[in-house]
Amino acid sequence: MSNFIMSMNENKLSTLEKLINKKLSRRELLETSGRSAVLFAAGAVFPIRFFEIFKPAPDKNLSPYGVPFKPVLPSTEDKFILPEGFDYTVIRKWGDKISAKEDFGFNNDFAGYISIDHLSGGNSSDDGLLLINHEYPSPLFINNYSDEDFRNGKIKTPEEVEKEKKSVGICIIRVKKANGKWLFAEDEKYNRRIDATTPVKLSGKASGTPEMKLMEFAAGTLANCSGGITPWGTLLSGEENFQDYFSAEHEWEYRWNDTDKDFIIEHYGWVVEVDPFDKNSVPKKRTSLGRFRHENVAVGISDKGKAIAYMGDDKVNECVYKFISKNRYDPDNRSNNMDILDEGDLYAADFINNKWQLIDFEKRDELKKAFVSQADVLVNCDKAAKLAGGTECNRPEDIEINPFDKSVFVSFTNNSKKDDYFGSIVRIIEKNNDPESMDFEWEVFAKGGADTGFSCPDNLTFDNDGNLWVLCDISTGKLNKNEYAPFKNNSLFMIPTTGPDKGKAFLFATGPVESEMCGGTFTPDGSAMFLSVQHPGEGSLTYDNPTSRWPSGGGDIPRPAVIAITGFKK
Ligand code: FEO
Ligand code: CA
Ligand code: CA
Repeated sequence: MSNFIMSMNENKLSTLEKLINKKLSRRELLETSGRSAVLFAAGAVFPIRFFEIFKPAPDKNLSPYGVPFKPVLPSTEDKFILPEGFDYTVIRKWGDKISAKEDFGFNNDFAGYISIDHLSGGNSSDDGLLLINHEYPSPLFINNYSDEDFRNGKIKTPEEVEKEKKSVGICIIRVKKANGKWLFAEDEKYNRRIDATTPVKLSGKASGTPEMKLMEFAAGTLANCSGGITPWGTLLSGEENFQDYFSAEHEWEYRWNDTDKDFIIEHYGWVVEVDPFDKNSVPKKRTSLGRFRHENVAVGISDKGKAIAYMGDDKVNECVYKFISKNRYDPDNRSNNMDILDEGDLYAADFINNKWQLIDFEKRDELKKAFVSQADVLVNCDKAAKLAGGTECNRPEDIEINPFDKSVFVSFTNNSKKDDYFGSIVRIIEKNNDPESMDFEWEVFAKGGADTGFSCPDNLTFDNDGNLWVLCDISTGKLNKNEYAPFKNNSLFMIPTTGPDKGKAFLFATGPVESEMCGGTFTPDGSAMFLSVQHPGEGSLTYDNPTSRWPSGGGDIPRPAVIAITGFKK
């Protein structure tokens, strides 16, 4: 066991962290090498049936390094650094136009690709839509409103708040490949912004209830962190740190309600669904999926045709969730799927008893004692989940379903208050490999730290060979300091899930100063990856002297941007 783990004070650990340590200790007993690595094979802890379901991924394009690239080194430079043979283009950055009347937003996070011919069954890797989330504004770079202004109690003007509201939300843009390069495409049929001023329907079980102030529409969407793309071709966008916008909830950050007194907190913290192929469609908040700090949504279809949505609540000591739709997915008629996420059952992961715990007011006495209705349960979902038996976790970030074996990968990014500095990636294996199952097993797939070289895993994505790509997010205030110093700038790693290099992290890219890479998605043919470079220069104290000038350089301010990386062999 590593010194890091041994030094941990057990009393300070979250419930899940204690369980992780127990599994790691057990593996130490079973392992003969005595090596201090914190990875282990499923077979060391679980019966053989669990790794029998892990079908080997195709083993191709391997270089002498065992991975399809020569890993780069950690860097503190204000550059986006890739291995030899790879290149990137900036698709859009803060300040660029995306349509005649709309601009690209700030702090882009999720960046999902959907082929332009998706609805007719195609999977074009030359032409598609990018579905992008804009998570939060920078008052400094948008309004030249500094930390000092905040400390001095300066209230933003309505115009300043409006500019910040326009900088967050969702962006849909068309992208096309020409001469091997990916470029933004002007297209008024698709290109669209949805921001914190756009009317959004409140749909599902909490809509129109007293808990929602009897309202069926919300003013816009905000805090859009990561997301997901459904099999029926829609975007799911996770509203994450909604509390940052309300001064009563959070002493620092945006405080829009100091200026906008009609701002309703219960209308935020939901999953928003958008049809990217219909510019006139009204976005909908899927309240049946619960209200918490949604990181992303990973959607799959069970063998019996139910839509399954896995979700995490990115806060310390919060839960992992699963939703199972009541109705079956209809592969032949898209319109039958468009509201499928409004009806179904919501569960929280109980990592102690390895069970999914139902969060249903009518069926759980624990919830009847504490809440007045299912709408009340959904609005206060984090409290309800724990009463129902959900396990407290160390900040669940991204969740993704391995397309090769349906096992579910979850990033637990870190919780330094509980001595979990570097995070871990946990793999959930549903009983009988059935996502509708109420029972599961789980393993620690990889643990961040000096042994593996990565720290604070956040977004995850799979390539066509079954490798896991891990985008790391060490927060700006901690980057390049103390225990985080060896990791340098935030980075992107590839971790094979099978074969001799299973569980080893290979460094693929490092970002510019104080940036975080988010939302990596491959084209269907695997030849390109789209990703967001979020918050470069986030630690800047003044507009005129920023800590980063990426991507434009010279005298420009830093600009969050979505980029396309090419050079991957098909
Ligand atoms: Fe917005 Fe959980 O990261
Ligand atoms: Ca994230
Ligand atoms: Ca994060």
